[in-house]
Amino acid sequence: MRELDRSERQHFEAIRRWVYDHTGIYYPERKNLLLYHRLMKLCHRLGIPDLKELHKHLRRGDLPGLAGELACAVSTNHSYFFREESVLGFFREHIIPALPERSRWRLWSAACASGEEAYTVAIILAETLSMAKAREQAAILGTDIDYMVLRQAEQGVYPDHKLEHVPPDLLRRYFRPVGAQEWKIHADLQGICTFRRLNLMSFPWPFKNRFHVILCRNVLYYFDLEHQRDLVERFYEVTVPGGWLITSVTEPVQSLSAHWKMVTSGVYRKVQ
Ligand SMILES: C[S@@+](CC[C@H](N)C(=O)[O-])C[C@H]1O[C@@H](n2cnc3c(N)ncnc32)[C@H](O)[C@@H]1O
Repeated sequence: MRELDRSERQHFEAIRRWVYDHTGIYYPERKNLLLYHRLMKLCHRLGIPDLKELHKHLRRGDLPGLAGELACAVSTNHSYFFREESVLGFFREHIIPALPERSRWRLWSAACASGEEAYTVAIILAETLSMAKAREQAAILGTDIDYMVLRQAEQGVYPDHKLEHVPPDLLRRYFRPVGAQEWKIHADLQGICTFRRLNLMSFPWPFKNRFHVILCRNVLYYFDLEHQRDLVERFYEVTVPGGWLITSVTEPVQSLSAHWKMVTSGVYRKVQ
């Protein structure tokens, strides 16, 4: 990154602030280069000459869709199927059997990127219950701030490398090859999952019913402590009593909230 002059620096800082205020994503100084490259790539794509103009459009709100484009540009969407087997194993062995038989289970993959997490959970449910029962018993909502990755989630087509952790028998059962080194998810799994755009920092959330299980993995660490605390409390509010929160094992929630009870690493429960 070349040295920015004073005025460019001011615009860069203002955009960093905008990103934080609108998405909760916190770019510390050490990530300046990454943020700068992402902003310049966006400018290039939209035909905006520089950061000053980008900031001007943001302030004026005269470029429809710019806020959404910027949110996409600054988010990190890395994800893959069967990520962190330990929490998924806990989900399979302990959470599914504890879910109430009489209700339709509502699961939420908050910050789902291109859908790998939501579909992984759908596969585990189908394997545990049968596909027909999973469709009848469960509904999975995947949400993300980035509309581009949501498009991919809806299409359900993935390159080889996203499927490296899918056991071969599950690969055969739930995916079919399409095109060069690409795989399409089974249509029945698409019937269990719905994808919507949602900014986790934009309140109130539009939910009528509470969730039995919320997965929020590998996203908390993009937010600062204040936003993390706020978010896990809000997750608590939209979870049924006895419901579950699943995070990445590297994102401890017990230091953020006195409400959630830790069950095992990456798994928390709302008291009944
Ligand atoms: C690294 S991915 C994690 C995907 C998946 N949960 C997993 O563990 O594989 C983080 C996702 O969080 C999303 N994200 C970041 N800030 C967000 C916000 N304020 N609201 C909703 N999604 C957000 C990004 O767009 C990105 O897709």
